[in-house]
Amino acid sequence: MRIYKAKDYQDMSRKAANILSAQVIMKPNCVLGLATGSTPIGVYKQLIEWYRKGDLDFSEVKSVNLDEYKGLPKDHDQSYYYFMYTNFFKDINIDMANTNIPNGMEMDSEKECERYNHVIEKVGGIDMQLLGLGHNGHIGFNEPGEVFEKMTHCVNLTESTIEANKRFFASADDVPRQAYTMGIKTIMQAKKILLVVSGVDKAQILRDSLFGAVTSNVPASILQMHNDVTVVADEAALSLIK
Ligand code: F6R
Repeated sequence: MRIYKAKDYQDMSRKAANILSAQVIMKPNCVLGLATGSTPIGVYKQLIEWYRKGDLDFSEVKSVNLDEYKGLPKDHDQSYYYFMYTNFFKDINIDMANTNIPNGMEMDSEKECERYNHVIEKVGGIDMQLLGLGHNGHIGFNEPGEVFEKMTHCVNLTESTIEANKRFFASADDVPRQAYTMGIKTIMQAKKILLVVSGVDKAQILRDSLFGAVTSNVPASILQMHNDVTVVADEAALSLIK
């Protein structure tokens, strides 16, 4: 595992964008595993800037996203499809036909999860998976206590996740109760993993994830068992790691 210390959020974003850029340059038709959430927004902004300068070409890149709320249509402003389109895809030359996100409007969970696993298999697996870190150590929507062996599956959101996400909806009642997410097993099958973490509020969970016991109580701790993980975190997030 490599850990790169960034000065602040902007520096973290630039360093992580550099790593993703290198992936795209070295393998123009690579498969990127992508994440939503507040942490990667700066990474996407930086990649867009370099694309506009002519330094990056996404025309052959394929993408698979980690997760999506079940029950939200693509055009809902809280759907992860909408997030990816507005924060990244619309500003680069990726072919939208090459982007993949679980279909939140498919109500048959088994069917959708099977389809999504097949999508990942068909694109040849994930070359580099970008991850953010939840305050409780979740990655994707894999909450503490989830078994490590799962591929894409449907999860019931925990009360704390519903609570954390309600600020984006009219009320807590409007927050979807379920989501589709790649499982830990899917994430661990990515060839390379790039974890981005920012802020002092993530310091404890980052330390637990990288140096604590490997346990399903801290889902991100499984990353210690992956052979190609790069962590880019700012000083605040790394403040409890000597
Ligand atoms: C996003 C995702 C989540 C986030 C995590 C951190 O697709 O699956 O696991 O990465 O909740 O979110 P932020 O970056 O908003 O702190």
